[in-house]
Amino acid sequence: MQKMFVEGGHKLKGKVRIGGAKNSAVALLPAAILADSEVTIEGLPEISDVYALGELLEEIGGDVTWDGHTAHIDPTRMISMPLPNGLVKQLRASYYFMGAMLGKFNRAVIGLPGGCYLGPRPIDQHIKGFEALGAEVTNEKGAMYLRAKELRGATIYLDVVSVGATINIMLAAVRAKGRTVIENAAKEPEIIDVATLLTSMGANIKGAGTDVIRIDGVEELHGCKHTIIPDRIEAGTYAIAAAAMGEEIIIDNVIPQHLESLTAKLTEMGVAIEEQDDQMRIRPNDVLTGVDVKTLVYPGFPTDLQQPFTSLLTKTKGPGVITDTIYNARLKHIDELRRMNAVVKVEGGSAIVSGPTQLEGARVKASDLRAGAALIIAGLMADGITEITGLEHIQRGYEDITGKLTSLGAKIWLEDMTDEEIEQFQHS
Ligand code: EPU
Repeated sequence: MQKMFVEGGHKLKGKVRIGGAKNSAVALLPAAILADSEVTIEGLPEISDVYALGELLEEIGGDVTWDGHTAHIDPTRMISMPLPNGLVKQLRASYYFMGAMLGKFNRAVIGLPGGCYLGPRPIDQHIKGFEALGAEVTNEKGAMYLRAKELRGATIYLDVVSVGATINIMLAAVRAKGRTVIENAAKEPEIIDVATLLTSMGANIKGAGTDVIRIDGVEELHGCKHTIIPDRIEAGTYAIAAAAMGEEIIIDNVIPQHLESLTAKLTEMGVAIEEQDDQMRIRPNDVLTGVDVKTLVYPGFPTDLQQPFTSLLTKTKGPGVITDTIYNARLKHIDELRRMNAVVKVEGGSAIVSGPTQLEGARVKASDLRAGAALIIAGLMADGITEITGLEHIQRGYEDITGKLTSLGAKIWLEDMTDEEIEQFQHS
């Protein structure tokens, strides 16, 4: 186990290249189950969630070979193997094995998903969709049993706009008989990316990226080659770091339209942003103004950038208020930021950040992936050294964040934890 050290106060300058989108990758890999020949996915991020899903594909008989950022998945020997325990319980995205295995084999046994704790994360809308397609779904001792004689298209109205449920229902419906309509679907770019892969495999999907998706079932899906979209949340995290500590940073391999809600807020704060085809150039002002932010479903401000943005608000002139309407309990980073001298009041689900405050280095713990990114950004701004534990969360979603920040001029390094520190960490 390792911990991270960040020596604050160093300005960031240069170019950073963004990897493939984690939240696409974790759906594209299970989607390969549905094909009857090899699927090649290019541009995958080198993060632990991706490798864990590769291992799960192998557990059910898939042949997965890696060539840097490219995975070749041969699904021909896959079987509907039960996956009630192990890795499947550690990962949120393992729930995509439900839709993909149900779609391919008409049955699946999958442990309930794990992942970052952000408050309650129900999957009732996924289940509602599978049931509407004709599956019987039961929860037996923490594992979901899904069985169907055959899947038949249906109209499904999502009561909550959900990325996971939208993708999972698409996965289950692409080989169902007849037409499936998902109403009140999520519109995130990752949904379009998954629909693009499925379409290259031979699926018939219309409307991905709008709130009504129509899927006409096909009998067979074949192998294909797909290149993943860039990670808008990784890009947004570097944009926030640039606003916090940048002189001038170029973010390369980004789709600027995917980040309009963030760039609008950064501009309002006084950050200069120039957008070119697949690049964003970011130059902050010496004085930034506090702003209010509310997270919403896409194209609104992403909940996944709420925590990193809270760190940035500690340096603005005047207060900023941040309200997460997607996960109102996604607040575990606040106590850690307070250890670093941040002045944050939590009131009715909103965090009110009083700035400007000079953060001080401290020992802090990343409780989840984006909390980890928030603490790294706080560490870059702080006086002195910040020591961060809980790196396994950060490694789930940020490819080589230490190397990328170092190349921009940050002083950031990893050290092995002693046995005593590991024990303390595990009991804290
Ligand atoms: N919800 C329900 N019932 C459901 C599904 C969702 O009530 O059946 C609620 C959730 O509790 C939440 C809201 O609907 O309040 C949105 O949840 P959604 O299903 O969209 O989230 P998710 O699919 O589980 C994905 C990302 C998250 C990201 C959210 C929101 C993946 C693997 N995860 O989760 O990413 O925060 O969408 O955009 O795609 C992250 O990357 O750090 C991360 C947590």
